[in-house]
Amino acid sequence: MKKFSIPYGKQSIDENDINSVIEALQSDYLTTGPKVKEFEEALAKKLNFKYVVTVSNGTAALHLASLILLKKDDLVITTPNSFLSTSNSILYANAKPVFVDIEKNGLIDLNLVEDKLKKEKIKALYSVSFSGLQVDETKVKYLKEKYNIKILFDNAHFIGKDNGVCDIATYSFHPVKHITTFEGGAIATNNKEFYEKLLILRNHGMYKDEKMYPWEYQMIELGFNYRLPDVACAMGLSQLKKLDYFQKRRHEIAKRYHEKLNLEPLYEYNENSSYHLFVVRYPFKNLDEKAEFFNNLRKEGIFLQYHYIPIPSQPYYKKLGYTYSKKECPVMDKYYLESFSLPIYPSLSEKEQDFVIEKIKEYLK
Ligand SMILES: Cc1ncc(COP(=O)(O)O)c(C=O)c1O
Repeated sequence: MKKFSIPYGKQSIDENDINSVIEALQSDYLTTGPKVKEFEEALAKKLNFKYVVTVSNGTAALHLASLILLKKDDLVITTPNSFLSTSNSILYANAKPVFVDIEKNGLIDLNLVEDKLKKEKIKALYSVSFSGLQVDETKVKYLKEKYNIKILFDNAHFIGKDNGVCDIATYSFHPVKHITTFEGGAIATNNKEFYEKLLILRNHGMYKDEKMYPWEYQMIELGFNYRLPDVACAMGLSQLKKLDYFQKRRHEIAKRYHEKLNLEPLYEYNENSSYHLFVVRYPFKNLDEKAEFFNNLRKEGIFLQYHYIPIPSQPYYKKLGYTYSKKECPVMDKYYLESFSLPIYPSLSEKEQDFVIEKIKEYLK
């Protein structure tokens, strides 16, 4: 029997994607051509934003968003439960992340956020739609208005209609995410000024208009080359057509885990979650026991993952003077010990999912 090899997440590529890429390769533009705008317009429609700017990856999206929203030494509240890029982008803008503990569902605890807002002058809240779940937007809107803060949603895990609460949302199109453009990302906003500045920052800080000499450009910002090529945007357009199907599959898989697995889920089945991740808990005694379980499943061809190591516990953050302890972030700390992410991606078959469920039951008696 062929041994399974089941990752926690992976891309779904079909003939249409391949043909779209071939077509783009045979066109006049590999980069900076018509597919970029086409993909951005399609995304804006799907995500319910006025403006979308594609960039080379989700980290670049966060970087440019931070340059727009923040100034040197601004304090920005964010979560320890994210990939490094969320808080790193605050550092890129010479601002300071302030970490606040999470709730049991993996999202930043908005009550603790408000406690901080009462005590300190905070510029912005960077909230992560962890696993595909959005924060309570009514509460975020209240905090935004009461404390006059900027709101960024790191939506690397969420893809769906926006409700107009955030100033900027960022997306990632890394292969494990909902749709892929190989590497890729996007920044979405309803603010025209932000949009125009983002276009310039993405392209070396260069400005050009019809009144200039034909060859002329003016560098008006310190920008970057964060452009997403046409070939990648062609792939994105093709992937976007299948997004509803991808979401349906993720929901089917999530429902099946809920029904068949007797482990505590991160949250009850939620039809609004994008289910980038499916996270469960088990009361491991310590991290060694958790690692042994991961290694046992690896031997069976099942590659579980854990999301995420608390960011302020990273050596670089410690060097900057950040501290992380069970006392400061008790919920995050328990979450780190107990939680893990199961395989979830559109092409995961029922047979493969049943194998995962069977092996988890076998090793977590
Ligand atoms: C929550 C979160 N933010 C940001 C990123 C960064 O995205 P990218 O890998 O496209 O740079 C990721 C990707 O792993 C992520 O999961």
